[in-house]
Amino acid sequence: MHSLSAENLTLGYGDTVIIDDLNIEVPKGEITVFIGGNGCGKSTLLRSLARLLKPKTGDIYLNGEEIAKMKSKEIAKKMAILPQSPVSPEGLTVYELVKQGRHPYRSLIKQWSKKDEDAVTRALESTNMLHLKDRAVDSLSGGQRQRAWISLTLAQETDIILLDEPTTYLDMTHQIEILDLLYDLNEQKGHTIVMVLHDLNLASRYAHHIVAVKDKQVYSQGRPEDIITCQLVKDVFQMNCNITCDPIFGTPVCVPHGKGRTVYPRQNQKVASI
Ligand SMILES: Nc1ncnc2c1ncn2[C@@H]1O[C@H](COP(=O)(O)OP(=O)(O)OP(=O)(O)O)[C@@H](O)[C@H]1O
Ligand SMILES: [Mg+2]
Repeated sequence: MHSLSAENLTLGYGDTVIIDDLNIEVPKGEITVFIGGNGCGKSTLLRSLARLLKPKTGDIYLNGEEIAKMKSKEIAKKMAILPQSPVSPEGLTVYELVKQGRHPYRSLIKQWSKKDEDAVTRALESTNMLHLKDRAVDSLSGGQRQRAWISLTLAQETDIILLDEPTTYLDMTHQIEILDLLYDLNEQKGHTIVMVLHDLNLASRYAHHIVAVKDKQVYSQGRPEDIITCQLVKDVFQMNCNITCDPIFGTPVCVPHGKGRTVYPRQNQKVASI
């Protein structure tokens, strides 16, 4: 199992610093979720962990080795990333897109093999995209497109998988389907998953470890049941809320304050259950 960590990481664009002297150790074999307000630097941090963005200062270590000194294909065999809102070339089919996930395993002497084909088929099956494999990616709905990109990430068959908002555009069923899939990959195969999610309640349900980012730094990190508090939500999202408990999973549920209909009397309401 591979380890991933960063030391004294400072990230930014031009003269603007977005992440300042941050240290992080991604727990091996667990699901970690980055949370934080829009523009706080979650994608910047995730992209730098995958070496898509060069740090201003600091180092990122994969199995104790500086990723800055590693070959791209070596990194890509160990770690895959699904960036936020990726764009595919016009007319590219789902199959052609997902096939690119096998790139790290190919070379002039190592041509397309049955192993590659099987990995692509498995990835398409697990995201329920096999029936759409010959469709052009740009002709798909937002949710189908997102699942095609997730298939590409899975076809890479890496121990560490980074995903930036993998549930964006997905309806409720497909959100749970994708998060369940990632949960199974972690539970059954021990994959380390790091993702950015905006839904605090789903983050609390699926993550073993949450990292809250604010003011260029880690505001707090730990198990959702230990760190998701009204104070955290207030500080990180500038939102007052109540924290209650998920009736099925027992994980924290955030009920944001604000306006909305109130239905009385509550005690007479039927609680829907299946
Ligand atoms: N390529 C870039 N060039 C210049 N500034 C950038 C670039 N990419 C991001 N930024 C800026 O860096 C800051 C952090 O962006 P980032 O995308 O990491 O935020 P985020 O936490 O992922 O936000 P969101 O929740 O909206 O996805 C923002 O102010 C953004 O405008
Ligand atoms: Mg982002």
